[in-house]
Amino acid sequence: MRGIKIIGAGMYVPEKEADNDWFSTILDTNDEWIYSRTGIRARRISVDKPNFYMAGEAAKAAVADSGIDPAEIDLVLAATCSPDFYYPALSCLVQHETGAVNAAAFDINSACTGFINALDTASRFLEDSDYRNILVVASERLAPHCDYTDRTASILFGDGAGAAVVTRSDKPMWSYLSAKGDYFNALYCKIDHSRSNCPLIAGKDALPEGIIDTEAKSHFLQMNGKAVYKFAVEAMETAVNKVLAKAGLGIDDIDLYIPHQANSRIIESAVKGLGLPVDKVYVNLERRGNTSSACIPTCLAELKQAGRIKDGMTICLVGFGAGLTSGAVVFNQ
Ligand code: UT7
Repeated sequence: MRGIKIIGAGMYVPEKEADNDWFSTILDTNDEWIYSRTGIRARRISVDKPNFYMAGEAAKAAVADSGIDPAEIDLVLAATCSPDFYYPALSCLVQHETGAVNAAAFDINSACTGFINALDTASRFLEDSDYRNILVVASERLAPHCDYTDRTASILFGDGAGAAVVTRSDKPMWSYLSAKGDYFNALYCKIDHSRSNCPLIAGKDALPEGIIDTEAKSHFLQMNGKAVYKFAVEAMETAVNKVLAKAGLGIDDIDLYIPHQANSRIIESAVKGLGLPVDKVYVNLERRGNTSSACIPTCLAELKQAGRIKDGMTICLVGFGAGLTSGAVVFNQ
């Protein structure tokens, strides 16, 4: 039987807080609009720290919390859609930062669904006795992706990292993962090849058909907010229903729900649609914004620090993101 136990959790948030009033100094927006449409009052921005630094700090905190020696980590999985390097993988930099010298390492990119996909992958590796302790990190530095002349998207995102050390458990775990690549252009950030000095391609940067941006801004995050919103509510409801059906559990059998923290209205709609008890749903986006894959592990770290992750609890994580991807996991801690 596949199962995981979180034995350590950690997080890192950058020092610089950008609140809604700051946005109103650079854009035609205001706190009232942003808060009422998103539930966000502020987000952190990493002014001068790379993604791998944030990932490393969260990972070190998680390893310290677990009490294991970094050399006992067998695998580092990093989820990110905003790495500092095309290669090496962020997980290799996290391995270096943490001293997890005996670990294998690779990355997973499914945007905001990254931590869920990574945790699911970790649980499958843990079925193999070669893997006892896995460090799962999710870290995003989205500020450089955002177009700070686009008031619809830039106000949503923040930077940060969360991490968990997981080990095998004899209690069960279930997951449901999904992708709808037909909707890839609802939310994307394209790699900029226009600075290539290959004489054959210099100055040109072919854009796939169906892309919604303009070439001048093609390297910024592009989002069809309404399409993502609609997808998000449906995808969260579907993912929770599917994973609970697999588990043979009902809504009330779950002790704690941690949804992806994109927009409080998306969370509220899904909570209402599913009939979830509000007091079992954890939300922290008011002062964090949407940190993509880092949202869920950051919530886990906050809850664990507060002593709210208890042995025997049944926990449901649910998310969605660019891809468009979505998924949910349920596990007994
Ligand atoms: O991890 C996944 C990441 N992405 C998401 O989760 C995005 C999901 N979508 C959303 O959260 C919402 O669609 C948004 C928050 C992005 C936008 O909210 P909305 O209620 O869908 O607003 P809208 O795009 O329909 O815009 C309504 C109006 C427009 O003005 P007009 O055309 O009615 O005059 C916008 O120009 O609000 C305007 N607007 C703003 N006004 C003040 C858009 N952004 C802002 C802003 N401040 N920041």
